[in-house]
Amino acid sequence: MPHPILERLTGQHPVNRPVIGLAPMAGVTDIAFRQICEQLGADYSVCEMVASKPELLQTPKSQSRLHFTEHATPNIIQIVGNQPDEMAMATTHYIKQGAEIIDINLGCPAKKVNGTGAGSALLQSLDKVEAILRAVTAVSTVPVTLKTRLGWDHDNYTLLDIVQIAERVGISLITVHGRTRACRFNGNAQYDLIGQAKAATPLPMIVNGDIDSVEKAQQVLQQTQCDGIMVGRASLGNPWLFHTIRRELDCHFTAHDSAIDKIQLACKHIAHTQQLYGGITGVRYARKHIQKYLQHLTGTPDLFKNIASIDNAEAQLDVFAALLDNHANEDYADGLKTP
Ligand SMILES: Cc1cc2nc3c(=O)[nH]c(=O)nc-3n(C[C@H](O)[C@H](O)[C@H](O)COP(=O)(O)O)c2cc1C
Repeated sequence: MPHPILERLTGQHPVNRPVIGLAPMAGVTDIAFRQICEQLGADYSVCEMVASKPELLQTPKSQSRLHFTEHATPNIIQIVGNQPDEMAMATTHYIKQGAEIIDINLGCPAKKVNGTGAGSALLQSLDKVEAILRAVTAVSTVPVTLKTRLGWDHDNYTLLDIVQIAERVGISLITVHGRTRACRFNGNAQYDLIGQAKAATPLPMIVNGDIDSVEKAQQVLQQTQCDGIMVGRASLGNPWLFHTIRRELDCHFTAHDSAIDKIQLACKHIAHTQQLYGGITGVRYARKHIQKYLQHLTGTPDLFKNIASIDNAEAQLDVFAALLDNHANEDYADGLKTP
């Protein structure tokens, strides 16, 4: 019997396919990128993490992370913090702002976050984790989920403990990045421990870490028996990955993904980013995506060495216009070859 949270995440009743989510990535998965990923087949996306400290709830940065996509997917806000009462207050605040699912960050390895005892630092203090989860679920009027890692380091795998706490306090879904905090992003994600945790709980579980192809998605789902996957870095410059995985898992989904369609979508992304942030901030936000798009579109990111020095959105778009011209000419040349 599929859990209602999966139905909410997929919009399907009953759920008869694995869920595919876009991972939260601070500084990357803003509304412009999430919108595109959902359009291309991601069942849901999570906003970039937001602070729970009362003095940070209304900052322009927190506010800018509260944009929700136009798709019929749930508005998921991920909160990060270390104090149960602050996390509870933040929950109430973000629900008022439109959050339909509250996700708790128990995985961020950043020094700035860990230095305040938040993110993956909480994995060293399971009592604190329980206190936070209890405080949040007690006030939340929407489902509460969490995202965690395997543990602090290889001598301290805490995933099974976290799962037990989650069950006790009424968490609706767990996402696991298959690394410890000590690994940060090094080495390979370990899926065996995620599979063991999944087998030990009735809670829905999403597997995350290093999923970058259809084959990997299928293998990881098979190995862990999880209810879905979450894709992060591999979608950068290649949001079509959601479409490709969705198509293979469903065998019927179709969307356009020719080179020209891809270039046009990249342009739409840049234009939306510029519209969101304006000026040089928009240019900077778009830059990291542009480099990744070029890598996937041309296989030769060095072709456009001066991308980092371009300081206006129009010139950024011109790079893609030039690519579009090249592709149009290729198509024309192909046409001439046709008998
Ligand atoms: C730039 C960047 C920012 C991230 N920000 C967050 C975040 O805000 N919240 C979170 O839970 N995880 C964050 N993560 C971790 C990802 O959600 C994901 O767990 C991790 O990248 C592993 O998945 P992947 O191999 O598919 O990228 C971030 C990762 C990156 C690379």
